[in-house]
Amino acid sequence: MCAKFLFVSDLDHTLVGNDLAMVKLLDDLQLHRSQHGTKIVYSTGRSLHLYQELQESQKRKQRELIKPDILVCAVGTEIYHCNSKEELVLDQEWSKHLSYNWDRELVATTAANFPSLKPQPESEQRPFKVSYFVREEKAMQIALELENLLVKEAKVEIQIICSHSDHKEYNRNLDILPSSANKGMAMTFVREKLAIDVEKTVACGDSGNDIALFDNRQEKGIIVGNAQRELLDWHHNNPNPNRYLAKTNFADGIAEGLRYFSLL
Ligand code: GLC
Ligand code: MG
Repeated sequence: MCAKFLFVSDLDHTLVGNDLAMVKLLDDLQLHRSQHGTKIVYSTGRSLHLYQELQESQKRKQRELIKPDILVCAVGTEIYHCNSKEELVLDQEWSKHLSYNWDRELVATTAANFPSLKPQPESEQRPFKVSYFVREEKAMQIALELENLLVKEAKVEIQIICSHSDHKEYNRNLDILPSSANKGMAMTFVREKLAIDVEKTVACGDSGNDIALFDNRQEKGIIVGNAQRELLDWHHNNPNPNRYLAKTNFADGIAEGLRYFSLL
C-alpha cells in the first residue's frame, strides 16, 4: 500500500515486547516513511528519561527503536518533535495549553493523604503528571475519592487514569493528569499539526492508559492480542468498527492490524 498515514503506537507491551517482530515492523514502517512520508509517533506513559533508558537498552541488544517523528511522553502530557539534528524539542504550545486550571501542588498534597498510594519514582513525577502505584482492589475507591476532593470540592480540572503495572507488589499505576491531556488528546493535537486525516491515522495499544486512543474515535485502532484485561473489557463494552483486536501479540499484532486496515 502506498498512501501516507499517521502511525501512533504505545511502546511497552505493544510495539516493544517481541524484539524480532518489532525490528521487522519498524523496517517496514521506515521504508514506508522514506517512500511515502508516513509519520511515526510513539506515545508512551514513560517520562523522557525512561524513554531514553528503553532506547539505550534496545540499542545494547541491537534491536533499536527507530527515531520517531514525534514522541508523546508521560501519558500525553509532553510532546517532543524530532528535529533534523535528531534532537527532541518540547512542544511549548501543548504545555501552555495544559497549564490552564491545573494546580500540581494541590493535586500532590491531596493525594499524599492516601496511604495506599505509593509514589512512583521521581523521574515519573512530571509538570503535568502525578503518578502512584496502588493495589488493584483499592484503585477504584481512591480514584473516586480523589475526584471528589479535586474536581467537585477544589474545582481543579483533572482526570485519573489507571492501568496495569508490572510492579511486584502494586499491580496498578494511577496517574493524575490535567483534564486537557491524555494520549487521545495528544494524538488529536499531533494529527492536526501534521494535517493528516482521521481515516489515515491508526493508534495501537495494550493497556488502560491507551483507552483514550480508542475512545469514541474515528481514527483506526489496533489492540494487540496480549492486551491487559482492563482494555479488553473496555473494548468489548464499547464496540467501534474502527477498532481491530489482533489475534497475535506485540508488534506482530500491530502488523496484523495494519494489514487488516490495508495500511501496510
Ligand atoms: C509508564 C510511566 C508511569 C505511568 C504508567 C501508566 O509506566 O512510567 O509513570 O504511571 O506508564 O500510565
Ligand atoms: Mg503499554
